[in-house]
Amino acid sequence: MDAFLVSGPCRVSGELAVSGAKNAALPDIAAALLSERPVSLDRLPAVADIRTMKKLLSGMGVTVSGEAPGTVTLDASRIVSTEAPYDLVRTMRASILVLGPLLARFGEARVSLPGGCAIGVRPVDLHIMAFEAMGARIAVEKGYITAHVSRVGPGRGRLTGAAVRFPQVTVTGTENVMLAATLARGVTTIENAAREPEIVDLAALLVSMGARISGAGSATIVVEGIEALPGSLVPHAVLADRIEAGTYATAAAITGGDVTLRGAREEDLPAFVAALRAAGVDVSTTDTGLRVSRTGPLRPVDVETAPHPGYPTDLQAQWMALMTQAEGTSRVVETIFENRFLHAAELVRLGASVRVEGHTAFVTGPTRLEGATVTASDLRASAALVLAALVAEGETLVRRIYHLDRGYAAMEEKLSSLGARVARVPG
Ligand code: UD1
Repeated sequence: MDAFLVSGPCRVSGELAVSGAKNAALPDIAAALLSERPVSLDRLPAVADIRTMKKLLSGMGVTVSGEAPGTVTLDASRIVSTEAPYDLVRTMRASILVLGPLLARFGEARVSLPGGCAIGVRPVDLHIMAFEAMGARIAVEKGYITAHVSRVGPGRGRLTGAAVRFPQVTVTGTENVMLAATLARGVTTIENAAREPEIVDLAALLVSMGARISGAGSATIVVEGIEALPGSLVPHAVLADRIEAGTYATAAAITGGDVTLRGAREEDLPAFVAALRAAGVDVSTTDTGLRVSRTGPLRPVDVETAPHPGYPTDLQAQWMALMTQAEGTSRVVETIFENRFLHAAELVRLGASVRVEGHTAFVTGPTRLEGATVTASDLRASAALVLAALVAEGETLVRRIYHLDRGYAAMEEKLSSLGARVARVPG
């Protein structure tokens, strides 16, 4: 198993190209299942989750080809299976995104239940509720969600547009319904929809494929279903990864560095950028992206995670790492996932002062961090440990980097290009 060996402390500076967003690319790839015509995507990040998603589609009979790195053409004209098997789904919960497109185009799908993961139980009941409202019959048996749309009756195997109101904001739930609704009979409205930039990116791709969608980015999305998506000849460029950008912005902030993030946009990260500024970090928009630097001391700033445009849960662990260097006590409140503080104990192993009470972590700084062996528990927690290691004295070994590889493209190379000393080693 790979680990990262980080030698600190260091100061990062320079310029970095932000990769395409994993969380936009995943639904974008699933969208290819909706059309008989090929779909081309550009700026796919070189991360494990994208490889898993391509593998999932290719197992269904989709032809996956791509000449240059970061580009792919997905041809779903000859599907041989409408099943997402356990072996792939268990490594990546976002596999549930194939359920909507398969059900919409073929009237049937069988997708393994994602099950639990380190950060919480994360059920898919809201996805199921929405598809039932659209006329699907769904059974959960032997660890699989089996869904179909009756071939007799007015729909003849097609989903029916419905009014879907999510009782809780769900990102992939919103995406799954958007995908399915493009081919449903009639109009679907999604209320209390997620407003994340990734939703807007998916809508842009679907519209380019011929779908009729309005309201993406707001709390109400309207999709007018059509019989078939004609497809698009123009490749769709996946939006820049705001979470990767936020992670490297935190690297600049924690090390007192100066980094320009090519392709990053402030409007994708309003609450995070506001928190950085409140902490004494300079953030400015340049011709190419965002420049993040710090010369003065770090001030403690409280954050509470919330759906977009609130503070993203995917940048919560990184904020905790940053606050270990702030002068005073800050509160980090997690409201989205029930068990997303696994990094707290590992940060303490490096010398941080973090106390967790339920959904709130109290971080007191500044603390002098010292290199140690720590273990990554999930994707974003891994990033937080690497960030802390950048300012720790001596060597830190961050184990189980496979979590990090799921969502960060070549992090050791990107950090090294900014002057950090990070090496991938066996461990
Ligand atoms: C997506 C992101 C993930 C991010 C999360 C929240 C992708 C591939 N992943 O995950 O990086 O951390 O949004 O911004 O885009 N819930 C239910 N029932 C459901 C669905 C969700 O109870 O059917 C709950 C979840 O357990 C969680 C909350 O709703 O507590 C929000 O989850 P959701 O927005 O669905 O997260 P994901 O889409 O899985």
